[in-house]
Amino acid sequence: MAREHGIGIVGTGVIAATHAAAIEPIPGARLVAATDLVPERAHKFAAKHDCAAEPGLDALLARDDIDVVSVCVPSGLHAEVGVQAARAGKHLVVEKPIDVTLDAADRLIAAADEAGIALTVISQHRFDPGLVELRQLIDAGALGRLLLGEASTKWFRSQAYYDSGPWRGTWALDGGSLMNQGIHYVDLLRWSMGQVTEVSAIYATQNHEVEVEDTALAVLRFASGAVGTLVSSTVVYPGFAQRLEVSGTGGTVVVEDGTIVHQGLTEDAAGLGLRGTLLPRPAADAGAAANAAALGVSSHTAQIADLLAAVDEGRPPAITGRDGRATLEVVRAVYESARSGQPVVLTGAAQ
Ligand SMILES: NC(=O)c1ccc[n+]([C@@H]2O[C@H](COP(=O)([O-])OP(=O)(O)OC[C@H]3O[C@@H](n4cnc5c(N)ncnc54)[C@H](O)[C@@H]3O)[C@@H](O)[C@H]2O)c1
Repeated sequence: MAREHGIGIVGTGVIAATHAAAIEPIPGARLVAATDLVPERAHKFAAKHDCAAEPGLDALLARDDIDVVSVCVPSGLHAEVGVQAARAGKHLVVEKPIDVTLDAADRLIAAADEAGIALTVISQHRFDPGLVELRQLIDAGALGRLLLGEASTKWFRSQAYYDSGPWRGTWALDGGSLMNQGIHYVDLLRWSMGQVTEVSAIYATQNHEVEVEDTALAVLRFASGAVGTLVSSTVVYPGFAQRLEVSGTGGTVVVEDGTIVHQGLTEDAAGLGLRGTLLPRPAADAGAAANAAALGVSSHTAQIADLLAAVDEGRPPAITGRDGRATLEVVRAVYESARSGQPVVLTGAAQ
């Protein structure tokens, strides 16, 4: 029997609705309360999702029927809110990115460690079916020695999107297309290919009135000797599936929006007895694409359920604060290299 967990949401904007929907099907989990800097937003959200609206973070943290807090505020405030919640003894589900600077990420990880609470940073696509399958293939050795990894996010965001909130498109609170949109597939690339050791990048602000980049490109080296590329953009109309390609000596797997759309393995891989499940398959149909929102919620459900199970079982969650930091480190390295015009070597100290 799962233990009861009461969850509080801080920041009731776009992603908070996903958290509310994601919590609903988890046995033993209940959305207890929400709060927002703008009280009307919290009240509207609470009415819609059948929970209490608290007037502020302190009031939400004071509730002893809440043991887990979902941090859904703008990215550059994740550590500030998360540290306070950790000090109040609450376990944490922090939206991506962990924060926008490594110092802030370190503050949050240290606060979680000191308080002895569990911390997960959202990277829900690790729970998408195609990524789960890719991970199994890599772990089984089906792809052999990894050689080349590519992650691509070619999306479109209008100027109205950036104008919809004062924090959007700012370096201090948001970051550019790579920090906000591309980071999901940066995390998946790093998770698949292993530690990134060197980054050479450029970025540009091409078609939005914002201070941040709206297109970033990078070439990467991995500790294994593999190499790779990253592209992230919000200027590509009308927007395409997020894509991850992983090639090794055993063959290639291509994932689009969380579904494997191509896989071709060598005879060596067939020797592992995996060939039968690895034949090329058709690209995802329009139905799967139309279901993207539902898939998004179910992967959030899986990650939040994992955090609750980690608390119950006294183990670390599948995706930790340090994982979130390692992915942020790659994003920061892309920005640093783009600014300096020099390759950036990553220490991997916290990876
Ligand atoms: N995992 C995903 O797929 C995904 C998708 C969208 C957004 N996100 C992340 O979720 C976070 C929020 O994004 P969003 O699109 O929901 O933003 P949003 O602007 O729609 O919502 C943020 C809310 O936080 C409130 N807020 C700001 N500061 C606060 C504070 N100190 N205390 C309480 N409330 C505060 C704002 O008033 C606003 O209502 C970002 O970090 C973003 O990267 C993740």
